Amino acid sequence: MLSFVARSANASSVTVAATQTVANGTKALCPAVSIQIERTLVPPAPQKLTTNSLTASLPKNPIRAAASLGGPIQVRFAHTDIQVPDFSAYRRSSVKDNTADTRSSAASRQGFSYLIVGSGAVGGAYAAKSVVGEFVSSMSASADVLALAKIEVKLNDIPEGKNVTFKWRGKPLFIRHRTAAEIDAESNVDLSSLRDPQLDSDRAQRPEWLVLLGVCTHLGCVPIANSGDFGGYYCPCHGSHYDSSGRIRKGPAPLNLEIPTHTFVDENTLVVG
Ligand code: FES
Repeated sequence: MLSFVARSANASSVTVAATQTVANGTKALCPAVSIQIERTLVPPAPQKLTTNSLTASLPKNPIRAAASLGGPIQVRFAHTDIQVPDFSAYRRSSVKDNTADTRSSAASRQGFSYLIVGSGAVGGAYAAKSVVGEFVSSMSASADVLALAKIEVKLNDIPEGKNVTFKWRGKPLFIRHRTAAEIDAESNVDLSSLRDPQLDSDRAQRPEWLVLLGVCTHLGCVPIANSGDFGGYYCPCHGSHYDSSGRIRKGPAPLNLEIPTHTFVDENTLVVG
C-alpha cells in the first residue's frame, strides 16, 4: 500500500484536475481550461548487470528464519552437538588434574623438553658434520691421482755417472747417480762464488744420489744432463749452466734447481713425493 501511495505521488503532477467545479451546483463560472504542464518522468528501473543486487537481497516479506541453499538469510545454530576430543591419553600425568597446581612439575616437564631439543641438536650437528665432511672429501684428490703423486724408483737400475729422467706430477724428475769425483768437486765449491749459495751436503741426502726437478729456474725449460761448463746440467734456451749439485753457476737463471721431497725407503728404493 505504501508503495502504491509513493508511486501515485510521483504521478500526481500529471494528474492535476483539469476542471474547476462549484460546490453549490450552479452553472460553471468559467469554462474548463486545459493547462499544459511539464511532464515529470518516473526514473527508469536500474539496469541489472549482475544476477545479484542489493534490492533482491532486501527482505520483502515479514522476516522469518529459514534455512535453504538459496536462502537470503544466514542462520547460525549453536553447535552443542560437537564432541570435544579427549586428549587425556596424550597429556602428562602431572597435568591431568585440572585442579592441581602444575608449577610444581614445571621443572621436570621443562627438563624433558630440553632433553628432546638437545638430542635433536646433537643429531642435527652430527648430520651436518657428515654432510660437510662428504662434501669436502669429494673435492680432494682421488685415489688414482694420489697414486700418481708419489713415484718409487729402484736405484739399482741407475748406473754410476748416469742421470735418469722420470715424469712426476707432469714435470721431469732427474735422478743422478754421482761419481766420487763429482761428489768431491761439489763438496769443495766456495760458497761465495755461487749465485744461490747452498752446501752440497744440504742438497743431497746421500752424496751419491742427487734428486732434482728438471725445470730451469729461469723460464722453465728442461736442462740437458751431463752438459754445460760445469758438467752438471745445461739449459739451451738462454744458456744457464748448473753444476753436478744442480746449483746455478752461469747464465740468466737466478736459483738452483729445485729439490723435491724424497725419502730413501731402503738401500735401493727411493720414493719421491
Ligand atoms: S729457460 Fe733455462 S736459461 Fe732460460
